[in-house]
Amino acid sequence: MNVFVLTGAGVSAESGLGVFRGSGTALWKRYDPMQLATPEAFARDPATVHEFYNARRRNLIAASPNAAHAALVRLEAGLAQRGGALTLVTQNIDDLHERAGSSRVIHMHGELLKARCASCGAVSDCQRDLGVDSRCGCAGALRPHVVWFGETPLYMDEIYAALETADLFVAIGTSGAVYPAAGLVREARMRGVRCCELNLEPSDNAAEFDDRRYGAASEIVPSWVDVILEK
Ligand code: APR
Repeated sequence: MNVFVLTGAGVSAESGLGVFRGSGTALWKRYDPMQLATPEAFARDPATVHEFYNARRRNLIAASPNAAHAALVRLEAGLAQRGGALTLVTQNIDDLHERAGSSRVIHMHGELLKARCASCGAVSDCQRDLGVDSRCGCAGALRPHVVWFGETPLYMDEIYAALETADLFVAIGTSGAVYPAAGLVREARMRGVRCCELNLEPSDNAAEFDDRRYGAASEIVPSWVDVILEK
């Protein structure tokens, strides 16, 4: 069986990394994304944008994967043993899937532990704070290697190609509020792929899913993986 998994902020919530929408503590309830997560905001006030991502990067470095991340590592190995494969696509810019042991993670919204040159586009590892003086070898300004609102997500060709061979599509911990990620379930349905949602609560596009399981990711993902590997 080929399983396509799309994860969102909810899979990392129990690792202490904030979600963007929903509860009062959600990031975009506390901050204006148009002032922090757009190329225009970075051009206007890079220091404030760096400060926001520096704080998130420090928080990430101090965080650890949870049982939901670990269960997806088990799924990857279990499917491979049975001649199948897992495609793990994440909207998250954290590295908790990799730290849990996932071998291949497609970061469609970029990675917080990488920097990108705003001039030449070169991408480099980044575990430290960035500032307005942070420069690339080409003297270009460094920015967080994340996809901001109004920018095109990464690896879309690869993502659609993986959907072509999927037998099952699963969305975990995402509100279904941001496209094109939120449109992948419809793409999967159009290809006749069965779709399942694992989330704390119904997402904005819950009606698109054939199966739905609600609860905390650290609880529902391990039990769902057990069911899939028993099949
Ligand atoms: N377990 C399972 N699901 C959870 C948990 C949990 N412990 N905690 C929260 N959730 C669910 C919420 O119910 C919500 O539906 O996770 C979802 C998180 O939704 P968002 O905060 O909107 O995050 P996400 O869908 O990943 O956002 C998409 O928006 O801001 C941009 O680029 C950013 O990648 C992000 C994109």
